Amino acid sequence: PRKIVIDCDPGIDDALAIVLAHGSPDLEILGITTVGGNVDLAGTTDNALRLREFLGFADVPITAGSAGALLRPRVNAAEVHGASGLGDALLPPATLPVTGGHAVDFIIETLRADPGEVTLVAIGPLTNVALAVLKEPRIVDWARGLTILGGSYTRGNFSPAAEFNIAADPEAAAIVFGAGWTVTMIGLDVSRGAVTTEAVADRMRAMGRLGSDLLIPCVEFYGVITADGGPAIHDACAIAYLIDPSLITVEPAVVDVETAGRFTSGMTVTDFRLGDRTPNALVGTSLDAGRFWDLLLATYAQVART
Ligand code: BDR
Ligand code: CA
Repeated sequence: PRKIVIDCDPGIDDALAIVLAHGSPDLEILGITTVGGNVDLAGTTDNALRLREFLGFADVPITAGSAGALLRPRVNAAEVHGASGLGDALLPPATLPVTGGHAVDFIIETLRADPGEVTLVAIGPLTNVALAVLKEPRIVDWARGLTILGGSYTRGNFSPAAEFNIAADPEAAAIVFGAGWTVTMIGLDVSRGAVTTEAVADRMRAMGRLGSDLLIPCVEFYGVITADGGPAIHDACAIAYLIDPSLITVEPAVVDVETAGRFTSGMTVTDFRLGDRTPNALVGTSLDAGRFWDLLLATYAQVART
């Protein structure tokens, strides 16, 4: 299996992404690191700890990281994810502790220990990843890759131009995109297609406690579910791409992060016209939603059985 470290801010769709990663035989989670984002750091860390015990992967370390952006006031998305960050899900309190140390050091040491083998997947604001790059620039070479859920070349969700994870810490995102590696950017352009319809929710309802205690109270809080519409579970797209890259088409581009715009702060300015420039990103441009849901629901059903 492909070894991954998940940097996240659970977060409803982060939780659904973690279930997918945990259940996939093609991925091995070496650690989960948390960042302030959808809710504050204490909340995202507590949610990660609760998810770990609910899902039963006690051996995976969880390490807390940055509470807020490098240079900006904190933002959150509690109106989207609920005060706890997990919608109406009420998972039992965790009994096992967070691993000591800082997420930035966990990321650096995990990549250092296994050069070329570990993929970093970031599904929250990029504060921890940026700090890791600044503290140890060689992680850019040690990482097998960096895949993010974030950004957009079409429309925003935090603002007209900006996606939440980038808008929450544009300076961090600019550091990450400028670090010299090729960032796989799965953005809203793709993830808005990962829509939880009534048919999907019905399948989740048949998944025992996984459905009743986690999936359903998350997705029903996240948006209105209809026959052909519903909330998009963005973060799961980044994990799905690592399991099966054929689910998402990616195209090389030069991506710059706007940090100064009056209307466009946090925008990922995406130039597919490479000319003689070296791309710094592979940008997701389309999702095979049917096969995406086949993968998710099959994996979730497997988790529900164990
Ligand atoms: C991203 O923002 C967060 O609210 C979600 O968890 C996801 O990572 C989507 O824009
Ligand atoms: Ca997230």
